[in-house]
Amino acid sequence: MTEQSSTIIRRFDLKDLDQVITINKETLPENYPERFFRTIFAELPSAFQVCQLDGIILGYTMARIETGLSHYSIFHRAKKGHTVSIAVKPAYRRKGIAKRLLKESITAMINQGITELFLEVRVSNTAAVNLYKAMEFDIIKEIRHYYRDHESAYLMARKIP
Ligand code: ACO
Ligand code: ZN
Repeated sequence: MTEQSSTIIRRFDLKDLDQVITINKETLPENYPERFFRTIFAELPSAFQVCQLDGIILGYTMARIETGLSHYSIFHRAKKGHTVSIAVKPAYRRKGIAKRLLKESITAMINQGITELFLEVRVSNTAAVNLYKAMEFDIIKEIRHYYRDHESAYLMARKIP
C-alpha cells in the first residue's frame, strides 16, 4: 500500500497541537504562540485540518474568516476566507497532501458563506505559489516588505462563485 492511500485528512484536534507547532517551526519562518493556534481553531474548527499517517501528523492548514474590503469588487465588503498557514513535512511533499488539506479547509469556509479566499505568500516561495495557482488562486498584488525580514508577499485570492 502506498503512503498516499493510507493518509487521512481530518479536522485538527487539540491533541495534535504539539506536532502542528513542531511542523510549523521546522518548515516556516512565520511562527506563532500556542494561543494563536488555539484561537484560530476555536473560531472555526472545521477550517483547521491535518493530514495523519499512523497517528503521526504530516501536515496542517489553518484558516479564519474575516470581513473586509473585497479583493474583486472595489469599495464593497466581503466575507473572506483567509488561509493563515499551511505546511507539509519535507519527506511527504509532492504527494498532493497540501492540495487535499486546502480543499477540505476551503470547503469548510464555503459552507460558512465566504465569497472569496485570500492569503499571503513570500514571492520567493515557488512551491507554495504554484500550489495556490493549481488551486485556482490568482496573484492580486505584491505587498512590499510584508515579512519581518522585509521580503515581499504576493496577495493571492480566488473568487467563490
Ligand atoms: N515546485 C513546484 N511546484 C510545486 C512544488 C514545488 N516544490 N510543490 C508543490 N507544487 C505545486 C504543483 O503544482 C503541485 O502539483 P504536482 O505535484 O501535481 O505538480 C501542487 O502544487 C500540489 O502540490 P502538493 O503535493 O499538494 O503540495 P505539498 O503537499 O508538497 O505541499 C507546500 C506544498 C505546503 C507549499 C510545501 O512545500 C511546504 O510545506 N512548504 C514549506 C511551508 C510553506 O512554504 N508553506 C506555505 C507558506 S504561505 C502560507 O502558509 C499562507
Ligand atoms: Zn495572512
